[in-house]
Amino acid sequence: MNQHIKNNVYWVGHIDTELRQFHGSDYSTHKGSTYNSYLIKEEKNVLIDTVWRPFSDEFVKNLAQEIDLNKIDAIVANHGEVDHSGALVQLMELIPDCPIYCTAKGVDSLKGQYHKDWNFKVVKTGDTLDVGNGKSLVFVEMTMLHWPDSMACYLTGDNILFSNDAFGQHYATSGLFNDLADQCVLDYEAMKYYANILTPFNPFLKKKLAEVLALNLTIDIIATSHGVIWRDNPLQIVEKYAAWCDDYQENQITVVYDTMWEGTRKLADSIAAGIVEADKDVTVKVYNISKTDKNDVITEIFKSKMVVVGSPTVGNDILGSVAGFLHFMRSLKMKNKKAASFGCFGWTGEAPKKIADYLKESGYNVVDEPLRIKWNPDLDEIAQAVEMGKRLAKA
Ligand code: FEO
Repeated sequence: MNQHIKNNVYWVGHIDTELRQFHGSDYSTHKGSTYNSYLIKEEKNVLIDTVWRPFSDEFVKNLAQEIDLNKIDAIVANHGEVDHSGALVQLMELIPDCPIYCTAKGVDSLKGQYHKDWNFKVVKTGDTLDVGNGKSLVFVEMTMLHWPDSMACYLTGDNILFSNDAFGQHYATSGLFNDLADQCVLDYEAMKYYANILTPFNPFLKKKLAEVLALNLTIDIIATSHGVIWRDNPLQIVEKYAAWCDDYQENQITVVYDTMWEGTRKLADSIAAGIVEADKDVTVKVYNISKTDKNDVITEIFKSKMVVVGSPTVGNDILGSVAGFLHFMRSLKMKNKKAASFGCFGWTGEAPKKIADYLKESGYNVVDEPLRIKWNPDLDEIAQAVEMGKRLAKA
């Protein structure tokens, strides 16, 4: 099944409604995903990207319904990651001489993964591929968005930007276009995708957005490689990226913790109550990290101006669930966020200070002394947590 995109451009990808985990189990996909592949049928026939390897057979059979495979003049591999290149293996067995246009690092990636000496054509920013009928594909390297090999291409005449991972979302919709999607889900999934995948590359993104905007391209459609295709006001997602890559924050504070015997949980709730008492305008969200999806919590932290992290002390250290989450937070390199820490303990109580140190090393601005409460908090100690919340609201 194809879907018509515009003029002689068709979607020939795969809608994966069953997907619930991506990148192994590192990214939750509550709404599934799509692997978007596109077929341009002008004087030349060009395929842009393929799909994830488990769907190779369906993909190649479907593609053969759309076009005599031997009439595909070129394949563009915008990105080597397997969710877009996986079906190349099966396809190239049928058309082994078909040229594959990609970046130099794309060759490295594809050769490294599939060990095939395909007919690679290396391109860089500004190179073009004439597709006939007065149209051409213009290549734009998208280095570090989100891999070193990433690339986008722009179809002149139809004004379609094939952006690959950039501007995508893990969101399976049958309608495929942004105006046909549930707007709340779309907004959330686009931000979650940015927060969990693209945040570490904010400085690259800022530069690349300026570079692309300086080209003054008319963009009628942004055809991503995951999720919806932006055809209704496509620049809305570019504007969102411009805001998100600029150390984004809203008026929100997120409290994240784990607890063993409810003490640290009581502190989390009391700190949240103190924040709310001191500032009626701030949004406060509280999550037990061992009971909440980590990618959803990261999305909340991405929106926050402050994160407050709590853990009991176990083996003189931070509880594993919280330590793992702190590691994930650090890898995302978020900037311009304040932080604080807390936790109950029975004997030694190192965790709150260790959390504060870790947050500082990760680039967070720790604004309060770690709150350490021995055993289960009594009413005075609950009041201390509330007071801490009030201070944090004013910090
Ligand atoms: Fe959708 Fe980086 O692969």
